[in-house]
Amino acid sequence: MTTPRPETLAKLTPVLTKRWLSPDAWQIGTYEQLDGYAALRKALKAHPDDLIQLIKDSGLRGRGGAGFPTGLKWGFIPQGDGKPHYLVVNADEGEPGTCKDLPLMTHDPHALVEGVIIASYAIRAARAYIYIRGEAVHAARRLRNAVQEAYDKGYLGRNILHSGYDLELVVHSGAGAYICGEETALLDSLEGFRGQPRLRPPFPATHGLYASPTVVNNVGTIASVPPIVLGGADWWKSMGTEKSSGPMIYSLSGRVANPGQYECSMGVTLRELLELAGGMQPGHNLRFWTPGGSSTPLLAAEHLDVPLDFEGVAAAGSILGTTATQIFSDQDCPVYATYRWLEFYHHESCGKCTPCREGNYWMVRVYRRILAGQGTHEDLDTLLDTCDNILGRSFCGLGDGATSSVTSSLQYFKQDYLDYIEGRTAPKLSEKTLVGAH
Ligand SMILES: Cc1cc2nc3c(=O)[nH]c(=O)nc-3n(C[C@H](O)[C@H](O)[C@H](O)COP(=O)(O)O)c2cc1C
Ligand code: SF4
Repeated sequence: MTTPRPETLAKLTPVLTKRWLSPDAWQIGTYEQLDGYAALRKALKAHPDDLIQLIKDSGLRGRGGAGFPTGLKWGFIPQGDGKPHYLVVNADEGEPGTCKDLPLMTHDPHALVEGVIIASYAIRAARAYIYIRGEAVHAARRLRNAVQEAYDKGYLGRNILHSGYDLELVVHSGAGAYICGEETALLDSLEGFRGQPRLRPPFPATHGLYASPTVVNNVGTIASVPPIVLGGADWWKSMGTEKSSGPMIYSLSGRVANPGQYECSMGVTLRELLELAGGMQPGHNLRFWTPGGSSTPLLAAEHLDVPLDFEGVAAAGSILGTTATQIFSDQDCPVYATYRWLEFYHHESCGKCTPCREGNYWMVRVYRRILAGQGTHEDLDTLLDTCDNILGRSFCGLGDGATSSVTSSLQYFKQDYLDYIEGRTAPKLSEKTLVGAH
């Protein structure tokens, strides 16, 4: 294991993670001692429009994967329309490799609760929901406890801190489906329907929860709001890059010495993150990695110095996504890894549209054939053709995301596919997996 140099250690910018190692950080007493609810007191004295402007000025972009400007999204909520407004926090965190929202809610749930109150006040919502992944029982328990503590202390409910502002906050556990992280499927699920994406337009900003104006934001986005209120837009912009401001929690997993969450200014490189994480595991050399979860095109060792911000990763042909960097070594097979991800997408496809439902079903079968040593050269064309028919033709981003590892692994690691097809690599799957594959 390597020790990070002081200049690399200085890349760490703990803002959202700054309380995580404090004893009992999830309890309201600790939170209040460490700046907690100071931003709320400040925000309640400001005009809601000024808060929206502050978030616009900070350049904060959504942490849920797409990087949409948060202040702009809040500004889309029509004001004075006489309808109820809602804030819905997307805490579904189902993207393989992604592990930033659940630790945040487990270690520092009040950071999210405080962000929810400020954001709701800014968009004039009287009711907010946190939609949390059903399997995340521990995080949900911590969150519910934090919400109750906030009610008991007068931070939630009627006449918050004597400001005249009322807010009810509900924590809702989903049933555990990746598609329910897609914001419109999430809204359907929250309303009690089967979680499937809605046709857009109309967008949630005007027709969201119960057909009313709704902001849907990721946990990390909303937890960024209190520090911005306290520190100001310029302070936030002093971290990160021009178009990707602020710090970001990067989650490292796989063949790395110390997997975990590393919060750095946006634009840090994988080389620096690996140094912070003690390097690769002994005996392993980096071969491929995802910059932002399994829905983002793979990158290779040649991309170690790509700045991990929205623009830098896009310029390298991938997507920053959820900053879930999954690290694979020369002992891992890109064909097999892609197959495992496809099994996931096939399983999680909601079935609403044909390209994703059928395309993933068939691609899984082609991969099984290749990995069982029965693939043909034509299979590689079939895979690319299938991706071509899914990408941009699916009803939601799940279908698009499923193609990312297929096309990128064929771009960088075609030889690995050929080695299975031409018999140089021993089959990884038995012929038993091929039932129905032809
Ligand atoms: C299949 C699928 C799954 C998604 N899962 C999540 C998720 O678990 N958490 C999340 O915040 N966003 C997820 N998203 C993105 C959301 O649709 C939405 O863009 C995001 O919640 C907006 O919040 P933000 O602007 O704060 O990033 C997912 C999108 C798709 C297509
Ligand atoms: S792309 Fe997949 S998950 Fe999305 S609507 Fe179509 S079938 Fe459902």
